[in-house]
Amino acid sequence: MLVLGIETSCDETGVAVYDAAQGIRAHRLYSQIALHAEYGGVVPELASRDHIRKLLPLVDATLEEAGVAGRDLDAVAYTAGPGLIGAVLVGGTVATGLAMGWGVPAIPVHHMESHLLAPLLEESAPDFPFVALLVSGGHTLLVDVAAPGDYTVIGESLDDAAGEAFDKTAKLLDLPYPGGPSLAALAEHSNVDRFDLPRPMLKKPGLDLSFSGLKTAVMLKVRELTEANALDESARADLANSFQCAVVETLVAKSIRALDATGYSTLIVAGGVGANKKLRADLQHELAKQNRNVFYPRPEYCTDNGAMVAYAGAQRIASGRQAAEGVVAKARWTLDELSRI
Ligand code: KG4
Ligand code: ZN
Repeated sequence: MLVLGIETSCDETGVAVYDAAQGIRAHRLYSQIALHAEYGGVVPELASRDHIRKLLPLVDATLEEAGVAGRDLDAVAYTAGPGLIGAVLVGGTVATGLAMGWGVPAIPVHHMESHLLAPLLEESAPDFPFVALLVSGGHTLLVDVAAPGDYTVIGESLDDAAGEAFDKTAKLLDLPYPGGPSLAALAEHSNVDRFDLPRPMLKKPGLDLSFSGLKTAVMLKVRELTEANALDESARADLANSFQCAVVETLVAKSIRALDATGYSTLIVAGGVGANKKLRADLQHELAKQNRNVFYPRPEYCTDNGAMVAYAGAQRIASGRQAAEGVVAKARWTLDELSRI
């Protein structure tokens, strides 16, 4: 089975060809970072227009690299949400048009399900059941994954997502967009957790998370250091490091709590913040001590990409779930509602 995957939910245009027998045959990504950098964040209308410009040439190049003609495909999968609605509509209409032309089904895919399934693209793939820690720019979720397609959200952020907290904190430190990778890079210049920042929701029972208080604590620290004329390079690096330590410690503790609650011994981590080196290393270290396993996609499959969409589409077909009528595009869409496409 050959599936073309198209991702356009935010600021990356991603395209890939998944072959059920061989794995990913080709995947290409066009990032809009340069386009949005001068605004300090994603401008939705510019994102949609750029997807329009880049998507078809990227599809042609990816098919050529994979050595596949459109008519050889069994399906075209696309991200149907959640995401920026204009950007999602571009991917959905292009995918549906191509699929009609080639006489194959167009398969709408849930963005967070595709993140959740990305670790299964790796050679060393997890077995079901597992807990998924999904940490992206728009969502932070702990999910009980009993089987393919059987997802129960057991914890989520009550306010900012982990990636959003990275992005907003990076802005406070005058770091360029996208904030997560810039903040992580600055934190590497520090080796002390110097500032006593809160570990949100750790003292309370349960699996929900919250990051807006942590961001406010950084804001107050920035103000205090600026007023004392003490926000030099080393203080900025230490503050970035303390923030990263607080987020990582919280995510590690909540993930372990989710494993305890479900009785599972496997965790998977996916979504953009899953590319964070400290999060990956600390989870590996802590779970190894408990004889538990953690699986990640390679970093390029953690952030948005077409490979995970093609794979999720292939899984939908394999599980017998049908293609939808027309174009599906949803700005908001919880994982719990997945079966109701
Ligand atoms: O999954 P993703 O690519 O897009 C969404 O679905 O939102 O996640 C993007 C988020 C952004 O907030 C970005 O700052 C964050 O992931 N991110 C990181 C790192 N790489 C990307 N955060 C921390 N450390 C990183 N290395
Ligand atoms: Zn994403």
